[in-house]
Amino acid sequence: MRSGELARRAGVSPDTLRAYERRGILPEARRTANGYRMYPPEALERVELIQAGLAFGFTLAELGRFLVTKNGADLGAFKTSTLRNVVITPPYFHDGSQDTLWDVLDHYNKGGVQNPFLDGGIQRLGLSESEIDDLVAFLASLTSDRFAALGKKELARQRALRGKRPQRDTAAALGQKAQKGLVGPFGDAVPPQTLRDPATIGGR
Ligand code: HEM
Repeated sequence: MRSGELARRAGVSPDTLRAYERRGILPEARRTANGYRMYPPEALERVELIQAGLAFGFTLAELGRFLVTKNGADLGAFKTSTLRNVVITPPYFHDGSQDTLWDVLDHYNKGGVQNPFLDGGIQRLGLSESEIDDLVAFLASLTSDRFAALGKKELARQRALRGKRPQRDTAAALGQKAQKGLVGPFGDAVPPQTLRDPATIGGR
């Protein structure tokens, strides 16, 4: 497909296409004998996916693993980091958006931030405050002995912030809040039919 047609069909400028190409997201355009830049057919779907991600508010870098695999299912996906020594390595997530493990747990408890690219395995957890505290204690226990003192200090810093929880949304975590776009029984944006009530997982 000629670059002009691709740009028109995807609703972007030819400069944008070249910028994507420079970043390696788009395969290099081939030059035809008469000088036209030709992209392979998969280029249109790829640009449409990028535009969908950007329209949602992701930056290019936040397109995540998609930038490497070019697979639409990897849009917004990030490497699952090790939890070893996690208490001493704030801030959390790829963008350092969460300051404490309580914030991380609050994030998971409400099923993450709803977006069209959310992993189907994410669902709200409905954990109580004491269950959140227990999970943070578990995460803090994954600290190597040689970092024990630092771990204790950092956990104390985080615990002091426990009363200030920007991510906490108990109503959403317990499924008591109508949220735009949420249609599933667990507050998922697009719930796979196979999901079970989290309370029944693990034989409870
Ligand atoms: C209660 C359950 C969970 C706990 C306690 C937990 C804990 C954590 C923590 C503490 C981090 C931050 C690590 C860091 O930045 O150093 C993290 C990141 C991450 N977790 Fe989880 N997690 C849970 C569930 C899940 C699930 C269900 C998935 C996948 C479906 C998942 C996938 C990931 C990924 C991909 C990251 C990296 C995200 C990024 O860098 O932006 N986690 N998790």
